[in-house]
Amino acid sequence: MNTLPFSAVNNSLPVTHGRISDFADDPVVCMRNLWRTHGEVAALQEGSQRIHFVFGPTYTKQVLSDSQRFHSQFFAIRGPRKSAQRRVTSGLMTMNGDTHKQHRRIVMGPFQKRAITAYHDTVVQMADQYTRDWKPGEVRDLTSEMTQYMLQLTSSLLFGIDLPRLAYRVGELTERWVAMNHQVGPAAFSSDASSTEEYEQLLAAAEELEAAVQEMINIRRSGKLGFDVLSLLIRAHEEESGVTDEQLIGHIVLLFGAAHLTSAHTLTWTLFLLAQHPEVMTRLHAEFQQTLDGKSPRPEDLERMPYLERVLKESMRVLPASGYSQRIAAETVDLGPFQLQRGAAVIFSQFITHHMPELYSQPEQFLPDRWETINPSPYAYLPFGAGPRMCVGAALGMMQLKISLPMILNRFKLSMVPNSEVNGRVMSTMLFPTSTVPVLLSEHDGQFESAPVSGSIHSLIDLPAKSKAKIWAA
Ligand code: HEM
Repeated sequence: MNTLPFSAVNNSLPVTHGRISDFADDPVVCMRNLWRTHGEVAALQEGSQRIHFVFGPTYTKQVLSDSQRFHSQFFAIRGPRKSAQRRVTSGLMTMNGDTHKQHRRIVMGPFQKRAITAYHDTVVQMADQYTRDWKPGEVRDLTSEMTQYMLQLTSSLLFGIDLPRLAYRVGELTERWVAMNHQVGPAAFSSDASSTEEYEQLLAAAEELEAAVQEMINIRRSGKLGFDVLSLLIRAHEEESGVTDEQLIGHIVLLFGAAHLTSAHTLTWTLFLLAQHPEVMTRLHAEFQQTLDGKSPRPEDLERMPYLERVLKESMRVLPASGYSQRIAAETVDLGPFQLQRGAAVIFSQFITHHMPELYSQPEQFLPDRWETINPSPYAYLPFGAGPRMCVGAALGMMQLKISLPMILNRFKLSMVPNSEVNGRVMSTMLFPTSTVPVLLSEHDGQFESAPVSGSIHSLIDLPAKSKAKIWAA
């Protein structure tokens, strides 16, 4: 489908010589070409710089299950020592070894299955409140609506619903800061990012964000502890020695950053896929009618919608919110034919693994029923990662999706606006909808229909024939 943007050199190692910036420019095209050329382990090299890649369960398992040899270093830009950027990037994703184990245990507390049931009503309330003003006949852009909805929901879950203004402000500052990291971070692959004006702006944004989180912590400490995630972490923090205030800020910022856009993009992609697959939408709607009868889901209902479970699994397989992630070798280690030196970068990719035909037949198609017969290993299906660093918010993430989808879809029938351009692109790890995704809201009439769309979405997945605008059908 795509031509190689660089030349493969035929030597004994599976290495493609090209520009490292090609990876930052279009990770999916670059990784697809590496996988097609070399298979499950490969490298991209420019001069003395080399990035290694693993695709499929075998090598992904080696990398993800061995957290001693493969460290996480999520943020490309850590900023100068003692800077706010250094502190706000010091959460779980930059911790390793025993420190990571100790902090993960503390951070996991508010996300245990037992604990998250307490958030059920907040999710129902927020979903109801957010869509209350939506009207049949309106066109809404899923990209911005789901981003805004998740901003409000994540703020409420992390910081409570009693201080909405400050909570949303922290959310907005985090979103801006995360976006700036996405912009400046990829430059760190190929150039000295620390000399740019954008870098200075990133450091300033980190200071503003840190001050807002600190203000939130001060208010909660001064006697207003609740049952939000921050309050639970402050309690745990007071009971455990060895967790500094700076680390608490790092955890909170990371939790927000990790939760917000991953959940928003998963919702956007799932609603888009449903709108474009009327037969799936029809069955899902029937399940909602049968289980919920027009009411908001109760905690016990979430386990009683098997088709919703399959729809979500398939949506996160075909369009995973996290397209890839990275580890750094902590010592000399063999990886397939490569001997990695300390500091070598290794990328693993959900997107490529989830689209491997030897793991999933017709991998580019959205087929929820495949989940009736398949049970892939945790390293062949990993929308939430796998191993000792698997997403701490996976159960909460699933709960949000299982409540939000029926709440939205019971209220309205959603259809794509015909001939819209829908674009998606992996940008520094996440699969973003990079265009609007406009849907028409209408009252339910028992009929669902897809609409032709154009755009780069067609380079990521195969949509049914009716979903192809003429330009793509040609
Ligand atoms: C649909 C929603 C979500 C998706 C697709 C998702 C995906 C992921 C993935 C793929 C990882 C592993 C990254 C790696 O191994 O490098 C991860 C880690 C993480 N996620 Fe999520 N996530 C979601 C929701 C959440 C939520 C709701 C929270 C918390 C409120 C959260 C908090 C975290 C944290 C703290 C980590 C780091 C764990 C560690 O390093 O030990 N995520 N997530």
